[in-house]
Amino acid sequence: MKPLKIGNLTVKVPIIQGGMGVAISLSRLASAVANEGGIGVISAVGIGMTEPDYIKNFRNANKRALRKEIKKARELSPHGVIGINLMVAVSDFDDLLKVAIEEKIDVVFISAGLPLKNPVNLPVEILEDSGVKIIPKVSSVRAANLIFNYWSNNYNRVPDGIVIEGPLSGGHQGFRKNDLINPKIKLSDLIEETVKVIKPFEEKYNKEIPVIAAGGIYTGEDIYKIMQSGAKAVKMGTRFVPTFECDADEEFKKSYISAKKEDITIIDSPVGLPARVIKNNFVNDILKGIEKPVKCPWKCLKTCNYKEVSFCIAQSLFNAAQGKMEEGFAFAGTNAYLTDKLQSVADIFDELISEYNQKKLQLRIV
Ligand SMILES: Cc1cc2nc3c(=O)[nH]c(=O)nc-3n(C[C@H](O)[C@H](O)[C@H](O)COP(=O)(O)O)c2cc1C
Repeated sequence: MKPLKIGNLTVKVPIIQGGMGVAISLSRLASAVANEGGIGVISAVGIGMTEPDYIKNFRNANKRALRKEIKKARELSPHGVIGINLMVAVSDFDDLLKVAIEEKIDVVFISAGLPLKNPVNLPVEILEDSGVKIIPKVSSVRAANLIFNYWSNNYNRVPDGIVIEGPLSGGHQGFRKNDLINPKIKLSDLIEETVKVIKPFEEKYNKEIPVIAAGGIYTGEDIYKIMQSGAKAVKMGTRFVPTFECDADEEFKKSYISAKKEDITIIDSPVGLPARVIKNNFVNDILKGIEKPVKCPWKCLKTCNYKEVSFCIAQSLFNAAQGKMEEGFAFAGTNAYLTDKLQSVADIFDELISEYNQKKLQLRIV
């Protein structure tokens, strides 16, 4: 696999571990991925829930926990590339971005909303001066085009790359429910079209802008195929959950190992988007419309109408991350059922690279 270039940053192996909240990808998983030459990503959403004073002091707890996890990841992987995932939808976006810049994070992946002046205030010049790379994640060519035009017109700059996520991924979806099962929507087409849309910006700004593919990528062969459509790297979440290094509780990982294909389903998340999860009793209750008591210590998501939702998404995800599967659920991609054992991140990288090379060789021989 060719290294991934993001401006002056070189990533030895073009595999990015998707940021997974709440508290699924923290410093342990991120540093393990970074040590294998990929980009390890700490998820910032609700990260302060890991702190004892979260309920009373949520804003400070979030900032403190993010700083702690970035520092820990740096200690565990002094030479690796570390990123954070920051959702536009979180109420403390500005605070958390500031911490990431102060801690000299390598890359900020921005998801769950478009990074435009409204709703977020992006200190674009500070980001550029500090060398922090910004890579938004979207699910349509239209959204990619919108962001790049907006940045170009308003900031005379463009993001350092773009992640395009297709409809097979774990967690919140950028598609309407019907489109999630629409066979006409293919990640390979989305990548090809995005590469075309981004090209004029590469020429205007005289820099390479990698298009990164996400959603349903599981094997080295998947990586090889999507790169033929023009992706320069892949972002994978589901594959990295059942690992020894994943920061979630063993019960969370077990839910992946025991999941069957038919257990992977879609729910309506209070965020206002569909979300892909593994079915369990809690999910069955939600699907039946049974309400779960919501105590909102603070409005962590701008898009959540906490007085009307039937469950708290942040609390449910954090309960699951702690292994309390009766009080929450696991986000998971369509391929989560393929897992039958825990693996080390190093073994996954070896497997992915060898499958990729095998596919490349096969096609050369043919
Ligand atoms: C358990 C889990 C939690 C996730 N949490 C988040 C999140 O908090 N923010 C986000 O932008 N994406 C989240 N994602 C999406 C991943 O970052 C990544 O884009 C996605 O997993 C890629 O698709 P795949 O799961 O098929 O590999 C999550 C995915 C999983 C599986």
